[in-house]
Amino acid sequence: MQPITPRRLYIQEVSVRDGFQIEPRFIPTAQKIALVDRLSRTGLAKIEVTSFVSPKAIPQLADAADVMRGIARVPGVVFAALVPNVRGAERALECGVDEINLVMSASRSHGLANLRMTPEQSLERFAEIVAVTRGSAATLNVALSTAFGCPFDGDVPAERVLGIVQRVAELGIAGVSLCDTTGMANPRQVAALLAAVRERFPRLQLTAHFHNTRGMGLANALAALEVGIDRFDASLGGLGGCPFAPGATGNICTEDLVHMFAQMGLDTGVDLGALLAVAADLPAIVGHEEPGQVMKAGPSDRRYPVPEAAA
Ligand code: COA
Ligand code: ZN
Repeated sequence: MQPITPRRLYIQEVSVRDGFQIEPRFIPTAQKIALVDRLSRTGLAKIEVTSFVSPKAIPQLADAADVMRGIARVPGVVFAALVPNVRGAERALECGVDEINLVMSASRSHGLANLRMTPEQSLERFAEIVAVTRGSAATLNVALSTAFGCPFDGDVPAERVLGIVQRVAELGIAGVSLCDTTGMANPRQVAALLAAVRERFPRLQLTAHFHNTRGMGLANALAALEVGIDRFDASLGGLGGCPFAPGATGNICTEDLVHMFAQMGLDTGVDLGALLAVAADLPAIVGHEEPGQVMKAGPSDRRYPVPEAAA
């Protein structure tokens, strides 16, 4: 198949949600706000700022409303938040989010472990949320966890994913993110599933959301690009992971993804130098090293002085 290259790519930052939700220590609210404010000036298309979930489930993001209200709203950047139920949608609307990212699982066991809901129960909640948000300015997107495999139930058939996307489209929701929650996807599977979803739902706004748990993250992003996907979730430094999915680790790293696309001559709209400057301060915020590689090696056009012996 001939690769399809989108003209412009949209990079969506999830470190402050997917990343901070699994950090062992609570990141102070002011530091979260300062980080979002720096990120929103690097050319990112969207930032998932926080999640409006139960603070008992995710104490790391118990300050969701304060963070959402505290950030500067930079024009052109979509400020989103993850939401599992009607209560979360109401809290998100009170803070004026641009986008409500409705989370559900494609697999039954992860749905029950993460949200105490089967996929069917989540879809019922979403119908209620569509009604609650009608008339507000907020757009809706569905983040479909375990779309490429579940750490409990194993394979998730493509037909199951297509069936859920069909139900989401019938609710009038314009966007879906297919999430590889625990890094089980491989590039061929990614190309096949995303091509099938694109073909059956050509008007749907599709996002690819990969975790690098098994080192396949950027290969999967490339496979998605080649079937025409233009929206990618990624996390500064490669932070990230679902606390209710055993073995989950970080998302693909934003600066590594932006660097790869830039080296390929693609337009992400992101200023890599500015992003790397923010990434450099991340270890001080979270208190540990990150898996991101370009922040350590520098971009591939970095040059060193020729050693004397080679001159
Ligand atoms: N925001 C804040 N509080 C919420 C809430 C929300 N969106 N939804 C429920 N709660 C509170 C309820 O008020 C209740 O509080 P109480 O114990 O003080 O009365 C408590 O949480 C339990 O509510 P209930 O509706 O019975 O929920 P539950 O226990 O079945 O849990 C979820 C369901 C979805 C709320 C919970 O599993 C959750 O928040 N999961 C999110 C997990 C997550 O973010 N994972 C990572 C993202 S992939
Ligand atoms: Zn994720």
